[in-house]
Amino acid sequence: MYPVDLSSKKAIVFGVANERSIAWAICQILHQAGVRLAIAYQNERLRSRAEKLVQGMDATLLLECDVAQDEQIEAVFQKTGKEFGSLDYLVHSIAFAQREDLGGDFSQIGREGFQTALEISAYSLIPLVRHAATLMKKGGSVITMTFQASERVFPGYNIMGTAKAALENEVRQLAAEYGHRNIRVNAISAGPLETLAARGIHGFPDMRRIHAQKAPLQRNITHEEVAKTALYLCSDLSSGVTGAIIPVDAGYHIMAV
Ligand SMILES: NC(=O)c1ccc[n+]([C@@H]2O[C@H](COP(=O)([O-])OP(=O)(O)OC[C@H]3O[C@@H](n4cnc5c(N)ncnc54)[C@H](O)[C@@H]3O)[C@@H](O)[C@H]2O)c1
Repeated sequence: MYPVDLSSKKAIVFGVANERSIAWAICQILHQAGVRLAIAYQNERLRSRAEKLVQGMDATLLLECDVAQDEQIEAVFQKTGKEFGSLDYLVHSIAFAQREDLGGDFSQIGREGFQTALEISAYSLIPLVRHAATLMKKGGSVITMTFQASERVFPGYNIMGTAKAALENEVRQLAAEYGHRNIRVNAISAGPLETLAARGIHGFPDMRRIHAQKAPLQRNITHEEVAKTALYLCSDLSSGVTGAIIPVDAGYHIMAV
């Protein structure tokens, strides 16, 4: 347990698929800090796993939400507002692209694949922030998850690089819009972590190996290191930080070769 007390605070977290999800690591650290959690899982298929994960987490709210459905987003925030009254934190840890669009020639991406990747991985942050902000009566902190493919070409990421570039731009636009209400919006740019989403990335094991070789800290990062940064971004320790893309990547991003 880390010496950060966030008891009486409330968070909604999107993107828990299983015990390896980055969102789950964040849920655990926030729970330890005393935060009451609403956890949104994508669909019925993921419900029983989510239920198992939250066993023993008192007063946690479990909600279903496919971010492609506006009415589901609305319903989730209505229920959260009814149960919690207010919100302090929003965690957006969601990405999706069709498998065939994660690799191959970038020029071959079709209209539908582009729309899907951008809608789920980037657009979804906007309505989630809009709804969460109505419940953030005393300010708040929003965290989303990005990757360095927003700036550099990682062939296995393909369209997801475009989606992350859009997502990072949204972080700046939303931070500018909501700053006057003391709602901070930041992204964590994580190094490669073994998760369900990462399994769809072509050449992912090689990426992890190269990352560990080249990164100044000479290793891969852990889920817990991402979660600790999320804890910092939720806490008052980061009160002056908004619109930032914070790399948690063992320093990999500074290296040219
Ligand atoms: N794993 C990595 O190496 C890594 C590195 C940097 C950033 N990220 C980012 O972290 C975030 C979380 O990914 P993860 O690696 O924990 O994998 P994950 O598969 O555990 O999480 C992805 C989540 O997105 C959710 N999702 C997909 N489509 C959705 C939809 N229509 N509605 C609601 N939810 C939907 C899935 O249900 C899942 O919970 C993603 O944004 C990912 O790009 C991951």
